[in-house]
Amino acid sequence: MKDQAYNLRQKMLLNSTTPAKTIGIVSGKGGVGKSNISTNLSILLGEAGKEVLLFDMDIGMGNIHILMGSNHRYSIMDYIEDKELAIEDVICENVHGISYISAGNGLKSIVEWKEEQKERFFEAMGHLVLKYDYIIFDMGAGATKETLQFLLTMEQILVVTTPEPTSITDAYSMMKYIHLRDAEKEFFLVCNRAENNQEGLLTISRLQETVRKFLSKDIISLGVLPEDQAVRKAVSQQTPLIKSFPRSPISSSLHSLANNLLSETDKLNIPSEKPSFLKNIKHLFFRR
Ligand SMILES: Nc1ncnc2c1ncn2[C@@H]1O[C@H](COP(=O)(O)OP(=O)(O)OP(=O)(O)O)[C@@H](O)[C@H]1O
Ligand SMILES: [Mg+2]
Repeated sequence: MKDQAYNLRQKMLLNSTTPAKTIGIVSGKGGVGKSNISTNLSILLGEAGKEVLLFDMDIGMGNIHILMGSNHRYSIMDYIEDKELAIEDVICENVHGISYISAGNGLKSIVEWKEEQKERFFEAMGHLVLKYDYIIFDMGAGATKETLQFLLTMEQILVVTTPEPTSITDAYSMMKYIHLRDAEKEFFLVCNRAENNQEGLLTISRLQETVRKFLSKDIISLGVLPEDQAVRKAVSQQTPLIKSFPRSPISSSLHSLANNLLSETDKLNIPSEKPSFLKNIKHLFFRR
């Protein structure tokens, strides 16, 4: 472990590489559009010239490969369980201009992995943060303690809500949980499935106000995405909607969402010797 950390540090010092920005896409309530947003947002970041890895962390229920309309032989769980596989073997490259890793099926929760499996995951992440500009994690529904702990390792959290009151209160609970464990964590907010822009903006401003009042924290809005039939149609066609319906209302909103994310995250381009993401994973897995 010492050697890995040392090698990584040397490599970063030599290249003065900016490590990948790690962003977790989450919601309180399930089914609010996380996977569609992760997929299309990643492709748009790719179109903007970024090296993007879309990481399906919905172990057992992952659907990124379906939304990407692609299939790959191996998943992250194959990498974790099969010592013969290299991380490169499980990355599906150059699909709609980005790379992705499928979730696969497998083991219980990430923190119950054997020591050796945690080492493999940590090692893989060490390579990936150097290779990509952005690593986007699509998190599954159902916030278990373990997935929330893993979420805490990521540098930024993009919270998806819809205008439904249950979705809003669940989004707030999720942010509160994270904030109480890491008050520095940066949150982005997206309102999906808005009937109109006004409804979306109102949803966002209410959540921003609540978070400001009770958690003394500012959350950055990335924008509103409309309710749009194009989503369902694109899912049925197994083609990302910005590719199959590039002129749909939601595609144009996704473009501004991606631009907002780029300008917010470009502020953070400070080369760092030790990406906090790796430091956080190390702490989660090995308590060091
Ligand atoms: N903006 C939208 N307009 C219309 N329908 C939408 C929109 N966003 C999502 N949907 C519908 O919701 C479904 C679920 O979306 P998606 O799989 O992206 O949600 P999710 O949050 O990833 O779900 P899970 O929590 O189960 O992982 C889509 O297949 C689509 O039918
Ligand atoms: Mg999903």
